[in-house]
Amino acid sequence: MTVLHLLVGTTSGNTEFLADTVSEKLNQQGIETELHYEPEFEKLPSDQPWLIFLASHGAGDYADSMLDFYDEINDPQSPDLAGLNYAVVAVGESCYDTFCEAGRHCDKRLQELGGTQMTDRLEIDMLEDDPEEKALNWLPAIADAVKAL
Ligand SMILES: Cc1cc2nc3c(=O)[nH]c(=O)nc-3n(C[C@H](O)[C@H](O)[C@H](O)COP(=O)(O)O)c2cc1C
Repeated sequence: MTVLHLLVGTTSGNTEFLADTVSEKLNQQGIETELHYEPEFEKLPSDQPWLIFLASHGAGDYADSMLDFYDEINDPQSPDLAGLNYAVVAVGESCYDTFCEAGRHCDKRLQELGGTQMTDRLEIDMLEDDPEEKALNWLPAIADAVKAL
């Protein structure tokens, strides 16, 4: 049974709200999800797909709840993530030069570690986009990819 693990990288809660909304929609489509509000790398099964919601903070840094995750994937003894299927929803604001930098970094790093992108990264601009609408429009791509695993 495939379970889609939703990893939440948030500091002030916007991204958590978005992940909760997406999770409910996926459940309605018959996809089982598990939410990780403070993702602990060693507890995440890499033989199950991950959907990562990650807000940028600081100057393109990872949001607070995924700072430990950042350390894990950048450890010199980096884990091998061959076999992992994942997708990234990057959250940010276009007024920053480092727009969505954390999500972009995470996407690139998971590929370097052997992971396979299930679908193109979604970037949400909290200044211009309706975040729920944009995420829900993108959802069929991820739902189809998960069902095809
Ligand atoms: C101090 C601070 C720094 C930020 N830095 C960035 C940034 O470098 N790049 C970006 O795209 N957005 C940046 N943002 C915008 C946040 O990503 C945006 O407000 C987002 O909605 C926060 O999500 P959260 O509530 O889940 O933490 C920053 C916001 C704050 C408050």
